[in-house]
Amino acid sequence: MRVLGIETSCDETAVAIVEADAGADGGDRPVGRILANVVYSQLTEHRRFGGVVPEIAARAHLERIDGLVEQALAEAGLALGELDGIAATGGPGLIGGVMVGVMTAKAIAFAHDKPFLAINHLEGHALSARLTETVEFPYLLLLVSGGHCQLLTVRGPDRKGGDFTRLGTTIDDAVGECFDKTAKLLGLGFPGGPAVERAAKGGDPNRFKLPRPMWRKPGCDFSFSGLKTAVRQMAGSLPKDDPRAVADLCASFQRTVGDVLVDRCSNALALAPSDTLVVAGGVAANAYLRGRLEGLGVRLVAPPIEFCTDNGAMIAWAGIERLRRGLVDALDFAPRPRWPLAAAAGEGT
Ligand code: KG4
Ligand code: ZN
Repeated sequence: MRVLGIETSCDETAVAIVEADAGADGGDRPVGRILANVVYSQLTEHRRFGGVVPEIAARAHLERIDGLVEQALAEAGLALGELDGIAATGGPGLIGGVMVGVMTAKAIAFAHDKPFLAINHLEGHALSARLTETVEFPYLLLLVSGGHCQLLTVRGPDRKGGDFTRLGTTIDDAVGECFDKTAKLLGLGFPGGPAVERAAKGGDPNRFKLPRPMWRKPGCDFSFSGLKTAVRQMAGSLPKDDPRAVADLCASFQRTVGDVLVDRCSNALALAPSDTLVVAGGVAANAYLRGRLEGLGVRLVAPPIEFCTDNGAMIAWAGIERLRRGLVDALDFAPRPRWPLAAAAGEGT
């Protein structure tokens, strides 16, 4: 079974082709084989604005998508007719970009009479660990990206939109956003996460005392706005041209985020015991944070770094997981700017 996956919900235009053995079972199965994986990161388009500009992103997706699909097919040595399904991120995300990906996938599916699969971007991240490693359902997932910070129990893709129970979420900002804002305040550039991680290397994580919102509180919710404000205040009072101070502040910030993530995950493991914790989303690329989560005493599964940030392979893989269960979508699927993965535990659906 071979599926093409298209990801266009933010600032990466990404296309991949993933192959897996067919089989209707939903249990623990072989992982996927990546036949092609191409990404165009719109860094130059957005850098001078210090963040992603939705209109510019949508245009850039439109300009690149056809060429990237062709490139992926060439890399895999396949023609469109040899695919078994066409998947695209159907939301949530910047709607102009999502529409470009969905329309492209629908057009290919229609022209070649292939099943179309609309993938929830978060479901793509949530299932990405199973692309490269054998991970059985159910598992606990820490989803940390530029737009989200959630703890979920992942039971599988079996229901419409996936079978997830949300244990906690952020009540204000996402953790990736906090990394991006910290980088911006310290003049480290965009995208912020990798820049903060680089700057933190060799810094003193104990130099600055920063607030740890929600730390040691009951439940599994997160909050990052107080931390963001504290970083802003400290950044403003740092001596000028002092790379040591910047490194120390980045290291202190990362340590604080690590403290909070570990605390929230240990609460989640107490509430919904699991022997596996999967960490996914762009912030999961952070080696320091992965190291902290390894200390929790359960098996930690983190996708390879290239599959943590947005990519087409995770969308193709989610497409395979859904296609093998017959969960295809009609061509009248409407792109969704908002599409929560699951309601909070106890809220029904
Ligand atoms: O999953 P993703 O590519 O896009 C969203 O769906 O949001 O995540 C992007 C986020 C950005 O906020 C970026 O700064 C953050 O992930 N990120 C990192 C690292 N690499 C990317 N944060 C911390 N450390 C990293 N190494
Ligand atoms: Zn993402």
